[in-house]
Amino acid sequence: MTAPAAPAPFPSGFLIGASTAAHQIEGNNTASDWWSLENSGSALVKEPSLDAADSLHRWPDDLDLVAELGFDSYRFSIEWARIEPVPGRISAAMVQHYGRIIEGCRVRGIEPVVTLHHFTVPRWFQAAGSWTADDATERFLRYVDALRAILEPVRWAVTINEPNIAAVMSRFSTARKGDDVDAGHDLPGVPLPAPHGATTAGFIEAHHAATDLLHEQHPEMKVGWTVASQAIGSIPGGEDVAARWFDQVEGQFLRESTGDDFVGVQSYTRNVIGPDGAVRDDPEEDRTLTGWEYWPAALEQAVRDARRVVGDVPILVTENGIATDDDERRIDYTSAALAGLQRAMADGIDVRGYLHWSLLDNYEWGSYRPTFGLASWDPATFDRTAKPSARWLGAVARSPRLDPSP
Ligand code: BGC
Repeated sequence: MTAPAAPAPFPSGFLIGASTAAHQIEGNNTASDWWSLENSGSALVKEPSLDAADSLHRWPDDLDLVAELGFDSYRFSIEWARIEPVPGRISAAMVQHYGRIIEGCRVRGIEPVVTLHHFTVPRWFQAAGSWTADDATERFLRYVDALRAILEPVRWAVTINEPNIAAVMSRFSTARKGDDVDAGHDLPGVPLPAPHGATTAGFIEAHHAATDLLHEQHPEMKVGWTVASQAIGSIPGGEDVAARWFDQVEGQFLRESTGDDFVGVQSYTRNVIGPDGAVRDDPEEDRTLTGWEYWPAALEQAVRDARRVVGDVPILVTENGIATDDDERRIDYTSAALAGLQRAMADGIDVRGYLHWSLLDNYEWGSYRPTFGLASWDPATFDRTAKPSARWLGAVARSPRLDPSP
């Protein structure tokens, strides 16, 4: 097998690094809604997260790994349930904990990309109506405000990760046995965030309010949110459904980014739509460990789709990766995805960086089986081991950059 060609040089200042999220790597996130879900006997959950990769304590190892590989950036999230485990009671110790991670990035020369909400919320917030409660935004702002001092050095902040997926997840997590989670929208196939549904509206309001607060407190910070791309295509006869599908699952969220400093684009696979919804009946289709089609070209489409909606707003690829046991496939996938990204950039699309999902194998929302990591870890000692793909992407990050245009 021949090694994939090294990508052409990226522009100077283009970030290359990796992403994680608190609940998926930290472990023992006991005050969060997901911890309750995992331990409630829900059919959605194959196994609980428990210790995860113990990044709560092992974060210096994670940052050392990022630096040692040659990455210049690291995306991670702050866990609201740790900062405010009880309504209105801020844990100063946990604020300082995340402050040390941000400072740990700085001393290692790593640009932190900080997510404030990545799928999980405090249990009390969920119980009080979550994002559909009247004062959801006010509660979110209280948490964001509590981070003011530690966010000072942060230049890239994500308010909310994938509101378009989180709005779908909320349909599931609040569903009772026998509920039709597909109800409330007029498109066939998988559940979608309802157009102007209450959760979606809650996210939109919270995003804009948090963006305003962050801009006021940190004038140099770039603030945006991230949107999951489905790289939607169609077969003949499916064009109209595909267009409506795109608008509902991506367009309505991307439109909210048009006044932002950047939009985070996250891409893994594609979805092909026919007149009756998603078409997924090819037994020969090459699937990854999540069951998604192996389709590295999705990233190129994702940034082109985003550009169509957000115009000149800069794009940051905040997630892209593959769940596989075969690390050579991860290199092949990433290499092809980067080549597509470079084609889009050569056409003038303003992309500011690429953050691979994920730095570590982690808790994939119900199971540890789909391994997305550039590094694995020992379940007993938690020692991290970089996979060849990590070294490969590190070499891409360290390779010479194009000079800035005059
Ligand atoms: C999420 C991650 C998740 C990844 C792979 C994204 O939807 O932001 O938390 O692990 O995709 O499924």
